[in-house]
Amino acid sequence: MAQVILENIYKSFPGRKGERVATPITAEPLRTNVEDDLSQTVDSSSPSPGTVNILRRINLTVKDGEFMVLVGPSGCGKSTLLRLIAGLEELTGGKIWVGDTLVNDLPPKERDIAMVFQNYALYPHLTVYDNIAFGLRRTKLGNEEWGVGSGEEEKPHQIPSWVENVVVGMTRSLPKKLRYRSEKEKAVDEQVRYVAKLLQIEPLLNRLPKQLSGGQKQRVALGRAIARNPQVFLMDEPLSNLDAKLRAETRSQIVKLQRQLGTTTIYVTHDQTEAMTMGDRIAVMNQGKIQQIASPLQLYNQPANQFVAEFIGSPPMNFIPVQVKAPLLIQHSQFRLTLPDVWEPFLQNYDGRSIILGIRPEHLSIAVPAPKNLLVHVELVEALGNDTYLSVRLDQTSTLQVRIAPDQIVRISDEIWLSIVADKIHLFDPQTGERVRG
Ligand SMILES: Nc1ncnc2c1ncn2[C@@H]1O[C@H](COP(=O)(O)OP(=O)(O)O)[C@@H](O)[C@H]1O
Ligand SMILES: [Mg+2]
Repeated sequence: MAQVILENIYKSFPGRKGERVATPITAEPLRTNVEDDLSQTVDSSSPSPGTVNILRRINLTVKDGEFMVLVGPSGCGKSTLLRLIAGLEELTGGKIWVGDTLVNDLPPKERDIAMVFQNYALYPHLTVYDNIAFGLRRTKLGNEEWGVGSGEEEKPHQIPSWVENVVVGMTRSLPKKLRYRSEKEKAVDEQVRYVAKLLQIEPLLNRLPKQLSGGQKQRVALGRAIARNPQVFLMDEPLSNLDAKLRAETRSQIVKLQRQLGTTTIYVTHDQTEAMTMGDRIAVMNQGKIQQIASPLQLYNQPANQFVAEFIGSPPMNFIPVQVKAPLLIQHSQFRLTLPDVWEPFLQNYDGRSIILGIRPEHLSIAVPAPKNLLVHVELVEALGNDTYLSVRLDQTSTLQVRIAPDQIVRISDEIWLSIVADKIHLFDPQTGERVRG
């Protein structure tokens, strides 16, 4: 097991013909704390013209045994980052450490990392058993743990391993009792069966991938990674091809397995629910940069900027531009709200200026008419049974999402009053998008 350290990672790709090469990253409106923390670091990469910057200034330490989730919208660079860690892409700048080893110049197979992909990437012509065994057969099983001598030196009285391999191959299709099994093959067998048991896929070992459901294929792909007993698991959206129910099930299985094995894991997803339910910590990415690294509840309660606030939580947080009147008043053409005292020092700087008020759908509730409350027009009602979601119009520019209890009856076109739970509000700087601390 090992920690993984990403130090000032940059990645750019050569721009394709006819492609706009201006980087999407420099056009990014949000500044983040992460960036501030690193303002002293030397910008080691100045990508040559004609390149597209995909990742910029990525700094992340994944602790030994930690389950780290990388979450962000499609195209933000998550897969590229995983591929860099695995050694499948070349770095433009920065350093990657696995344990105490700088792996920048190591080929993938020497990094002691196993990767699970979205599309499973199983060998179609091999059985489940052989798919799991495949990587093991190729490695030198020098592990003491396996009780096998190192494959490096071959003592004179031993059969050379190539001869063994030929004999293993020749006898493989014979009935079990007649098959020749080398020491290595015995060790492989033991490991395959251990993993199959762990993942409850023992009955599937003789099937081909085409005879498996999506969920089963996914477990085989996991099995193949686990069997290698690597220092680090990298998983790239491994559940996206599964239906919702199976996804939820497999999600908790992966978390349980990871806890059991204690293997440092970096898990990529675009799905905030997956991120929130699986990660010890989550790194939120957007446009090639990390926006915030925090525990799930920290992200929810103290989002570093408007991007994180909107990305984490479903339905997303509502944003309403308001005017500040010190010490504690915020004003909108439709309502006036006095904030709790803790906000006073932070509102001073914004006196007479505008600020973005953020409020989650679950922190708005149906209320009585009052100057501090919002009169809204109901445009959509979604009754899910356990919760009801409303989409309501506040004014020309603002539509809000509201979560209410299912026993509250609201109809489309109703005019209703909403109150804001004042100690659940968030404020953001309208220029930078950064959280105003309170
Ligand atoms: N080999 C490549 N050459 C050029 N651009 C690439 C290459 N691989 C990925 N990209 C670009 O990098 C960006 C990030 O891609 P990716 O890492 O796959 O995002 P994600 O996994 O977050 O959806 C995308 O805009 C994609 O088009
Ligand atoms: Mg991807």
